[in-house]
Order: sequence, then C-alpha cells, then structure tokens
Amino acid sequence: MEQIPFNRLAPQHDASVIDALLSVVKDDWFVLGKRLQTFESEFARFTGVKHCVGTGNGHDALVLAMKGLGLGKQDSDTNVQGPGAELLSPHREGVHHSNERLIDEILVPANTCTATFLAISNAGCLPVPVEPDAATLNIDPRRIEERITPRTKAIMPVHLYGNPCDMGSIMELARKHDLKVIEDNAQAHGATFRIAGSDHEQTTGSFGEANATSFYPTKNLGALGDGGAVTTNGEIVKDRIRRARNYGYSSKDICDFIGMNSRLDEIQAAVLSVKLARLNKWNEQRRIIARMYDTHLSGCGDLILPGVTPGGKHVYHLYVVQTARRNELQQYLAGKGIQAMVHYPVPPHLQKAYSYLGYKRGAFPIAERLSEQVLSLPLWVGMTDQQVLRVVKEVRSFW
Ligand SMILES: Cc1ncc(COP(=O)(O)O)c(C=O)c1O
Repeated sequence: MEQIPFNRLAPQHDASVIDALLSVVKDDWFVLGKRLQTFESEFARFTGVKHCVGTGNGHDALVLAMKGLGLGKQDSDTNVQGPGAELLSPHREGVHHSNERLIDEILVPANTCTATFLAISNAGCLPVPVEPDAATLNIDPRRIEERITPRTKAIMPVHLYGNPCDMGSIMELARKHDLKVIEDNAQAHGATFRIAGSDHEQTTGSFGEANATSFYPTKNLGALGDGGAVTTNGEIVKDRIRRARNYGYSSKDICDFIGMNSRLDEIQAAVLSVKLARLNKWNEQRRIIARMYDTHLSGCGDLILPGVTPGGKHVYHLYVVQTARRNELQQYLAGKGIQAMVHYPVPPHLQKAYSYLGYKRGAFPIAERLSEQVLSLPLWVGMTDQQVLRVVKEVRSFW
C-alpha cells in the first residue's frame, strides 16, 4: 500500500535550487547582501507594491509591519518606568480597566493560526477576534463593525489556506472607520482579489498599508528554513521597517531606536528568487489538484468542500474540507496510509496563552466549530493524479 504523506517539498528542489545555495557559500557573504536586494525587488514586483523588506520569519514580519505603522509598543515606550509601565506589557491582566493607558486593538479572524495573535501581542497590541464567514473561512466583514471600539487601530485580514479575503468590503470598512489594514499573507502567495467594479485582479499583500508574509518551508513560496517579508507602498514605512529589522541601525554601528534582529539571510533570498520564478506555475498545479478533489469529492457524506471568496483566486496553500466526523475520517485515512492534518485544532482565544483575555468556550462558535471539523487533505506540488485519486477513493470509501 503506497503511503501518501501530507506534503512533500523535495519535488521543488532541483539542481538550480542547490546551485543558488552553493553560489552564496562561494561568494562568502551571508547577511544583508545583493541576493536579498534582488529578491526584495522581485517579490515587490510580484506582489504589485513598491517595496519589500525581507525578515527572519512571518511572525516578525507582522510585528515589524505593526511597528512600522506606529502601532503598539514603540521605542519611545520602551523606557517608561513607574506607574503605568506595567500596562505596556502585552500579557498584563485586566485589559478592560478604564484608567489604563490605551492599548491598540487589532481586529483579527478568530480561526487563524495562533502565530497571528502572537505577533499582535508581541508588537504590544491587543488581538480582538472576529468570527469567520462560514463560507469563505476568512474574517467576516459583516461582523467587523460590532467589534470596533475607540481603541481599534487596524484590521488584520488573514488570507487563510490561500483563499483571499473580501478585500473590497474590508478596505471600505477601514476607510469608513479610519483604520489601518495589515494583511497576513503567509498562506496566499500569488492569490488575487478583484474589487467590484474594477477590471484589475490585485495580488494579496498589496491592499494594506503594510502587509506581512512568511516563507516557512511549507508555504506556497517556501525557503529552506525560516523567512518572511513585509510588502508596502509606503516610503517612510519601508525605511523604518528596514532599520527596525536590523537593530534600529541607520548605518553601521549607529542605532537610532530599539529595533530587533530579524533579517532574511542570503541563502534564503537566493533560493527564494529561484523558486519565485516558478510560483505561478506551482500555484496552477495546486489549483488543478484542488479541482480534482472538488470534482470527485462533491456530494460525499456531509463533506463541505473549500469555498472561494467571490472575486478571489485561491492558491490552495491547503485543501481544507469540513465534516462532523473529522477525527474518525482522519484516523480512517491514517489506517489507509494517508496523512491528513488539522489547521487548527485550538482557536487562539482558547489557548492558555490567551486565557487573560477572558474568552470562554462558546465566545466564537463558528471558529470553534471549524476547529472541530476542518481537515486538510494531502496536496503538494508534484503530487500525481494517481495519488490524488487514491485519497479520493479512500475518502469516499469512508462513507
Ligand atoms: C497565517 C499565518 N500567520 C503567521 C505565520 C507565522 O509565520 P512564521 O512561521 O514564518 O513565523 C504563519 C505561519 O506559520 C501563518 O500560517
């Protein structure tokens, strides 16, 4: 019986990827060099923005995007001492007390990967969960307004599983309430959304004022280790983030503010340049596999197949189905040598780390139901038709 893993990356890594890696070793320059500059221009062009700033990972890209927009804990806050200083801690208790220093609130989908929440906390902001739309599994624009308070500063849509959010509605709400938009584009490299009335398909990662992505190895565009980037059209934002990722240095040994160390290294940049040239082709392969699943799994048991946001083009970072018998199906497939995974079994608001927010089970019923019912089926670049059809056969045989 052929084993079908959840994912394979080896088919993406041919001799040109190895050559790119070795060329960096031969050049003897590993951090903040010409490969990073090249990749940053290429990824900015691919995304349709003026600037890209490479970072150490996607989490840091989100933190830097928030800091670059002046949200959360800024360097001027860092030395605050005495009464009130503790209120700058993102982990403090009692966020609802009225006499506290105001903490910037960021609206975020309740069903995202916990890393999105962690980035908000680590930037010194407060994550405010919003229920997802049950059809698209992305933040529900109809539920955003009810979560806005005088402290709300930004909306952070996450293009979950590769399905673009309804950016038309989100941008309109942001304009209406004077909020910033920071896209979490970790899972949607190359996805597009067409705003109603426009004939232009805009790439995700180009709508918000500063947007973040991850190049974690399993992402549609993955490095050979950690990596991330911020994309923006803002000149000042770009300059600030470029310094903030490198200690806050404006030039060698000159530190203007308290930054961090989060740089995309030359090996990752060189590899990402090679892989970026193939990304559209790979995304098309993912769509073909998704269409096969759609065709052959439709009408199977109580299975709900992935929806696509109207106006959007999905890039199927993950192919996520829903069923009330999720755990049983996952175990059944495992018994047949097929690995399926859950993204994500615990919604962030129910993680111990977020108990201080005070949400109980039942606070976000759609997100909580999804955490019990979603199952990601195997999908990778290079997966054969036979492998897809094997998964189909076993899923159907479960019912
Ligand atoms: C939606 C989302 N946001 C943020 C992140 C964080 O990215 P990284 O793992 O590169 O820090 C990830 C990746 O795990 C993600 O899937």
